[in-house]
Order: sequence, then C-alpha cells, then structure tokens
Amino acid sequence: MYYKIIPFTKRVYLLFEGKYCFDANAFHKMGCRGHKEHKKLCKGDQPIRGSEMKAVLNKKTQNKIPDNLPVIPTMDVVVFPQMIVPLLVLDKRIIKGINDALEGSKMVLLLAAKKQVNQHDSIGTKDLYHVGTVASIMRLIKIPDGGIKILVQGVCKANALSLSTNQETLSATVEPVEYEHDSKDETEILAQIKNIKDLAEKIAHSGQSFSPDFHLILSKMNDPDKIADFVLSHLNLTVEQAQELLEQKNQKDLLNQLYTHLHKEIEVTQMQEKIRNNARDSMNKSQKEYYLREQMRAIKQELGENEEEEIGKLREKLELLQISDETKEEVRRQVNRLENTAPESMEAMVIRNYLDWIFALPWGKETQDNLDIKHAQQILDEDHHGLKDIKERILDFISVRNLKPDSFAPILCFVGPPGTGKTSLGKSIARSLGRSHFRISLGGVRDEAEIRGHRRTYVGAMPGRFIQGIRKAGTANPIIIIDELDKIGADFRGDPSAAMLEVLDPQQNKTFYDNYLGVPFDLSKSIFIATANSLDTISAPLRDRMEIIQLSGYTMNEKLHIAKKHLIQRAIDGAGLDEKGLKLADAVIETVVSNYTRESGVRQLERLIHKLCAKSARSIVEKKKPAKFTTDNLESYLGPKILRDEDIEKKDQVGITNGLAWTAYGGEMLKIEAVLVPGQGKLILTGQLGDVMKESAQAAMSYARAHAKEFNINQKVFSKNDLHIHVPAGAVPKDGPSAGITILTSILSVLTGKPISARYAMTGELNLRGHVMPIGGVKEKVLAAKRNKIEHVLLPEKNKQDLKDSAEIIEGINIIWVKKAEDVLHHVLSGAL
Ligand SMILES: Nc1ncnc2c1ncn2[C@@H]1O[C@H](COP(=O)(O)OP(=O)(O)OP(=O)(O)O)[C@@H](O)[C@H]1O
Ligand SMILES: [Mg+2]
Repeated sequence: MYYKIIPFTKRVYLLFEGKYCFDANAFHKMGCRGHKEHKKLCKGDQPIRGSEMKAVLNKKTQNKIPDNLPVIPTMDVVVFPQMIVPLLVLDKRIIKGINDALEGSKMVLLLAAKKQVNQHDSIGTKDLYHVGTVASIMRLIKIPDGGIKILVQGVCKANALSLSTNQETLSATVEPVEYEHDSKDETEILAQIKNIKDLAEKIAHSGQSFSPDFHLILSKMNDPDKIADFVLSHLNLTVEQAQELLEQKNQKDLLNQLYTHLHKEIEVTQMQEKIRNNARDSMNKSQKEYYLREQMRAIKQELGENEEEEIGKLREKLELLQISDETKEEVRRQVNRLENTAPESMEAMVIRNYLDWIFALPWGKETQDNLDIKHAQQILDEDHHGLKDIKERILDFISVRNLKPDSFAPILCFVGPPGTGKTSLGKSIARSLGRSHFRISLGGVRDEAEIRGHRRTYVGAMPGRFIQGIRKAGTANPIIIIDELDKIGADFRGDPSAAMLEVLDPQQNKTFYDNYLGVPFDLSKSIFIATANSLDTISAPLRDRMEIIQLSGYTMNEKLHIAKKHLIQRAIDGAGLDEKGLKLADAVIETVVSNYTRESGVRQLERLIHKLCAKSARSIVEKKKPAKFTTDNLESYLGPKILRDEDIEKKDQVGITNGLAWTAYGGEMLKIEAVLVPGQGKLILTGQLGDVMKESAQAAMSYARAHAKEFNINQKVFSKNDLHIHVPAGAVPKDGPSAGITILTSILSVLTGKPISARYAMTGELNLRGHVMPIGGVKEKVLAAKRNKIEHVLLPEKNKQDLKDSAEIIEGINIIWVKKAEDVLHHVLSGAL
C-alpha cells in the first residue's frame, strides 16, 4: 500500500506488502521495483475534477454507513473528515476489502497505525487506533504488479467497535461519532471560530505551510465541524496529537485545542521567518561587500592602480629617500606590513597614511642661504623701521655663515610688548635669507602631543606641529617662528614646554622624535625664532636655551616713521587705492596716535590707518575723490577720541602720586592713592596688590614712621589713624617692588598734608635705609609717561645705563635720576623737607 498525500504535505507514506517504510528511498532499499513504480505513480497523479468533489461533499452519506466496513490502516497520518487522500494499496488483504466495498457502499474505515510497525511484521488489530474516519472511495486506478491506487475522502468520524482480521480480510464494525454540541457554548464557539480563521489566515499569508487556496476555501466555510476538520487536516501534527484531536468529542474543547495548536504553529512560522531573514541579511551584506570589492578591484585595474604595482613603487621611492639606514629599515617594515594586510582594511589605511607622511617630508632637502649681507640689510630695512639691535644680530649671524657655512644657528627669542614687530620680523629674516618659513603659535597649547604628535595606535593620529610645519614648508631647513612662547600651558595631557626643551636644544633636536613618525627627524638645520610678550612665564631651562632680545615700545617719532614708511603703503595696497588715495600729514598721524591709540606697538595704529583707507575708498566710490583728513575732521571718521586731555589729571593733590608700571603689554601710568582714616595705626592695602607690593608698602610705611621727625609729623597721628593705600584700577592685579618710592610719596603727602606735583611720575624700589633701588622696564615706563603727557620722570640712578642709547625715547621729557628717598620728596613734595 502506498499513500501519497497532496497537496497538504509533501511527505510520502509507504506500506508495501505488509511491510512499512517512510520514504521512497527506503522503499527502494527494500529491494523492490516499487521505487520506479512510485515514480510512475507520481506522474500518474491526476487532478480531481470539480464535479467529482462536489458529488462527494453533497452526499449525505452518514446515514447510509454500513455497520461493517473494510479497514485501511494508515501509517504516520491521521485522515480527518473532508480530507481527500490518495492511497496506494499493495497488500492483497486490503485490496480485497476495497473491492468488496466498491461493490456496495464504496466506503472504508481508515484507522491510523499506533506506532512504527516493524518492517517484517504484518499489521494486526492491536497496532491500530480504534477511532478513525469513514471514507468514501472516489476513484480507483489499477497499477501493474496487482496494486491499486485509490482516492478517498473522509466522510465522518467513527468508532471501530470490534476489529477482526484473518488471511483474507481486515474489517471492523463501525459506529459513526457525532460531536457533542452544547447550545450554551454557541457564542464562545463562534468567537473561537473567528479566532481560528484569523490565525489560520495569518499562517496562510506567511506562505509557509499551506497551499495557496487554503485561505480561499476557509473563508467560504461556516460549519464549525467542517472548519475544525479542514484546518486540522492542514496542521503539522504527530500521529499521537492528530489522533487525540480526532478522538475529541466535545466541539468546544476541540476548537480550543485547535486554537492552541495554531498558535504554536504561528510562533514556529514567525521564528522560521526571522531566522530566514537574518540569514538573508547577512548573506546580502557579505555579498554586497564582495561585489563592491570586485568592482573596486576592476576600477583599480582600469586605472592601472594595481596593488602590487603600488607596493613596488613605494619600495622604489623608499630607496631614493635620503634617510638613515635605521629609518629606512623601519619604513621598509611598514611597507611589508602594508603588503600583507587586506588592501581595503582600516589597518592598511593607517599604514598608507603613515607612508604618505614619510614620503611627503623633505628629508635632507635644504635650500641654499642667501648670504649676501647687503641684500639682507636691504630686506630687513624694507620691512621694518628701527629695531637696530635685532637687525645687527641677524647680519652678524649671516657673516658667520659666510665664513663657516655649517655653523650653529642661534635660537633667538624676541620679547616685547604687542605689535612691536616680533612676528613680522621673523618672516622678514626668512625672506632675507631666502629660506621657507612656518609659524607655530603655542598660545593655549596644553597637550604635549601637539608638539610631539600622537602615537599611531590612536584613531586619527597625526604628527606634531613641527613635523606638520616642515611638511608644509617643504624644506628641511626652514625658519621656524615659535609664536607666543610665554602663553604655552600645561595640564593633565602633559607639559608642552618640557617637550619644547627637546625641540630647542641643538644637541637633541638633531634627532627630534615625533611619536607619529616613530623615526627621528633632524630639526637642527632649521633656525628657530621665538616670540613672547614677557619672560616671566617662560621656564628657566627654556629661557636658558635661547638668546633673548628685548624689543621696547615705539616712541611717537618712531611710530610716525613706521606709519609713513610701512603701514600707509601697505594699507593703500590692501584697499586697492593709489598713491593719491590716502594722504596723511604728520600732524594727522600724530593725532591718531595720541588720541586714538594707547599702545606700545603699532597694531592699533595700523588698524586705524586701514580704517582711514576704507573711508577714502568709500569717498572715491561715492564722490569720485579721495577723502581729506585733517586734525580737525578726524573725529568724524574715527569717532570720539579715546584719550582726552581732560582725562589726564593736571591738578596737584594730597596723597595722589603718579607711579609708573611695567606690564607685558607695555608701560602704564598708575596713580597711587593714600588717605588717613580714624583708627589705630593699621595699614590698609587695597587694589589687588601682590605680596611683594604689599611688603614694599609696609617698608615705605616703616620708613615714614622712622623719619617722622624730619618731616615734622606728630607720632600720635600713627596711633589715632589708619592709613589706607589704594591702587586703581582695583580689579587688575598688580605686583612688584617698583612702586616703593611712589607709595612713600603718597604716605608722606597725607601725613604732612602737602600736595604732590601732578607733572611728575616716578618709579623705583625703596629699601628701609631710604635708598632707591633699580627697577626693570625703564624704556616702557618712560614711554608710558610720555603718552600721559608727564613732564618729569624720577628714575633710580642705577638705571641710567638702560637709557644710554635711547636718545629718542628721552627726547621731550625730563629725566631726573634719584638716589635716595629725600631726592624724590625734594622734587615732588615741595616744602616738605
Ligand atoms: N618696526 C616696524 N616697522 C614696520 N612695521 C612694523 C614694525 N613693528 C611692527 N610693525 C607692524 O606692526 C604689525 C604688528 O606686528 P607683529 O604682528 O609682528 O607684532 P608682534 O610683536 O608679533 O605682536 P604680538 O606680541 O602681539 O604677537 C605688523 O603689521 C608689523 O609689520
Ligand atoms: Mg606676534
């Protein structure tokens, strides 16, 4: 017997002459020709005609079911009512039963076999379940070898009351089984039917287990019994599960069980779908990558960018590089690594990037210096007015180079107030020597890696600024301008100024090691020029490596010159004007300087000249003629003056002395105020004074008390009053000892009630013996006094040296050299002594 169940499952059930097996191959192994037959049978399958199906369905056959029916055992399948199944029968005993049935009612009883029956045993009554399905035979086809193929359709469930078997027949007495209906459950059943339909539809839509017309048939069915049987026949159930459902008599329970099974089925389907999708996704991704790679390879081949060719070229290039053997070995190692890594991998990109840097650096590529002194002088003068010392120093260096070309290049550090030409001088030196140059601004640099680079293991690693600059400059001996050296910072990322020690040490920078390059680079051929506003924040070891050159602020005269010779021309060019576009008389420039700038350098002045150029350009565009600037009309172009004459205190006052201070931004004039307030002889100091300044105030106070008699001061004043000293602007921190004589003057002025001459300004440290000690920043202080229209400046005699060559600075102001406190008081506190 051979059962083939279509279209619901693809499984094949075989029963051959009382022996059982489960697929066509096993059937074949049993040594019978049946395998071929099975194939033939499959071909021989004919579709059931619609009219045939209807005839069976419309038959009210239940009433006519005979009491005794031949039995057809089914293996591994339970046939439900409504189900149409083709069966192949080869067992003679069963064939006889079928033939008997065909003569009468055309009905048989299909009973499922309980478990796998041993191949050699003939099937017996014990092996069969006792609840099965009565089926009507729809069609019979005889096949060669005496077997038959029948098409049966389940009609109703039936109990096999007694099974009998002998050599000739296998039959049973049957009793049809009807579902137990309870009218109470009707609504529940209806709801459950709806649920089942929904679920079954879902499964059908997933397109997995069921045939395409399953959903169509189901949607037209209404009878709960038929729906249950129909859906059941489509489920993937084991024989035991199917048999249990077949034996279920209560309709409600059956529907509930069916619902649970469907639910399981849908979960399985969903899981299957998910697994399939995942597999498909990963397949798609790798397929896509593969496809793109192939495309890229093809494109590269078209472009002639062959991988091997690239490596070959790199090796050739490497041999031509002027680098040491160790460096060459390291680079060679990287090229080998590149060869062994997948071309499109991240690692290959990192290596390529690295090699890119190595090949882009100007190893051993040096420019020839222009050592013509006259030419150098001409260029330096062309770019900058004044700055004699620095220019001399450069010319000296060029002379040494003339005699000894590989002489050691000095590391110069220009220190001075802003806008005095430090940075632009560096560029000018590069121009005069004919070297390339680059500028590194260290202002705010806190990370050591900025100097020495990141190790290549970091993502986005880069070489440090020096190596980057060298690459940009394109030569191994550029001029490196290290700007704002005093503003370098330090934090948890390391101390960049410590890294600078290596850069600026001629012994070490020959083999400067950048973490990214991983090989040394010779920086010793470069000329380093550092700039700073103040030396205070530069560490001593760093200072020690450099030759410090001080630049002081410019006098009015110098500013006038710079403006006329350099700034105006540059501004005219920048604004697209011609010579006639901007004409500024000396008096106008002077007015701009004195009324609109407050600086040591010329940066603000340069900006204002640019502004005037823009005004003139506008006038040319609008009125077709350049603007005319006079001392009187400047205000209409540049706005109100920032420094008015009224602002400068001209009145002599008690307790207020003009002091002179030095800052990184040039000199400043500070007024030191003192008042007496009732109290117990305390000294009150305000205005954000630093420790050194506080101490010099105390020293001045002690001096005043010690010499009270000489100034006719009553000692009682000290015990009944507090002395308050204040230095505006209160929010700006101040420090240093150079205000000693200024504080003393203010103190003595309040104690004696004598006013201080406002035409005087002073600076000088005071010791307890009344000696005036030297101070720093003399030039800046004198310039500040001039800016504030002071007539006389008191300076410590020991500073005389500082102004020796500064005739221009002291021009137009009276310098009074003082040795002792009395000298100071003699000048400013007339009548006090
Ligand atoms: N002596 C000079 N002759 C001609 N131009 C000058 C002179 N001094 C400064 N300048 C000009 O002033 C401008 C500012 O100069 P620069 O930028 O070099 O100042 P700096 O000293 O580097 O200031 P900072 O300390 O703020 O960096 C530049 O345009 C420069 O050409
Ligand atoms: Mg600068």
